[in-house]
Amino acid sequence: MNNIKENFPILNKKIDGKKVIYLDSAASSQKPYSVINDIKHTYENSYANVHRGIYKLSQIATDKYEASREKVAKFLNVKSSKEIIFTRGATEGINLIASSLADSFLSQDDEVIISTLEHHSNIVPWQIAAKKTGAKIVELKPDSNGNIFVEELIKCITKRTKIISLPHITNSIGSILPIKEICLEAKKRGIITLVDGCQAAPHVEIDINEIQPDFYVISGHKIYGPSGIGALYGNKEWLEKLSPYQTGGEMIDFVSIQKSTYANIPNKFEAGTPNIVGAIALASAIDFMNEIGINKITEHSNYLTKILYEKLKSLNYIRIVGEPERRLGIVSFLVEGSHPHDVALLLDNRGISVRAGHHCAQPAMRHFNVDTTLRVSFGVYNNEEDIDKFLINLKDIVKYLQ
Ligand code: ALA
Repeated sequence: MNNIKENFPILNKKIDGKKVIYLDSAASSQKPYSVINDIKHTYENSYANVHRGIYKLSQIATDKYEASREKVAKFLNVKSSKEIIFTRGATEGINLIASSLADSFLSQDDEVIISTLEHHSNIVPWQIAAKKTGAKIVELKPDSNGNIFVEELIKCITKRTKIISLPHITNSIGSILPIKEICLEAKKRGIITLVDGCQAAPHVEIDINEIQPDFYVISGHKIYGPSGIGALYGNKEWLEKLSPYQTGGEMIDFVSIQKSTYANIPNKFEAGTPNIVGAIALASAIDFMNEIGINKITEHSNYLTKILYEKLKSLNYIRIVGEPERRLGIVSFLVEGSHPHDVALLLDNRGISVRAGHHCAQPAMRHFNVDTTLRVSFGVYNNEEDIDKFLINLKDIVKYLQ
């Protein structure tokens, strides 16, 4: 993993005379040359609209676009690429499912379980769905350390539970949920599952065949691909039953002025000209991760997370926010007596990028009795040296602030 940084041009540039130490990959990852070059190469050599032209260029673009769908399917261990829908990102994936389920499968007698630790993108879509249908949102509360256990989930399940929508890894504190067991318990009871895999996909192998969710969403920009592209896995039976989310070109079969029939999956859910180059570059991002090896990535993320956690824990002015039994890629914390934004700004002055804020997870913040935290999160390019530099600077800043 030592030379990986060299693949990321932005990490070798200087901003205000300093090389950036990037510790905010949970918000978005930086991009390797292979992805950047693929974007350029596609625009220069094989760009046209997809699925529409009979001319060669359109066929080349279509082939690359569909090859990327195959690659995503393999990456998630999904048998049929028809079960992969390209989206703008995980947020759009969740909105799509919440909206389409609300159209025909959710009613006022139903309950949707989400946890206190959701990203807002796994809360607000369900609020809209609940408002449309009269369904109720049930909150699965973690323990005080931020653990979500299957036993607690089971206590929330009633005869009315229709959907369980949970993260694989939480974005605020990095806790890992027992998502396979959760999906198994849901399946036994005929409950629909959606997993927000945004923070898991950059760090662990995603095996849909093993987890068996009904829906699983990821964002391309968190796995070294471009922003504005993501993927939704949906089990075939469900995708065929659901109504389209957006409508227009490409998602139709037959259109008359009064009514239309729809295309088969996946096209039914891809109205309009898609993010063609984004989808193609997503395949390059997956190639990049595969070349390193996903197990190696997990090991590396785990190693960095443990070191950072232990070093922060040993400082008496640091309060770690969230102490789950299992975490990966993310550590949230406070510097006693200082506002997270002040610390983040001072770190930025020294070339260190961390996130300060509520991390789009306000209920999670309230659960831990804080408004905001500082959050360090890792990508494949980070190393122990980054952690050391971060800590040296943090210690300096704390001296200055206190
Ligand atoms: N979901 C992103 C984050 O957690 C933006 O920072």
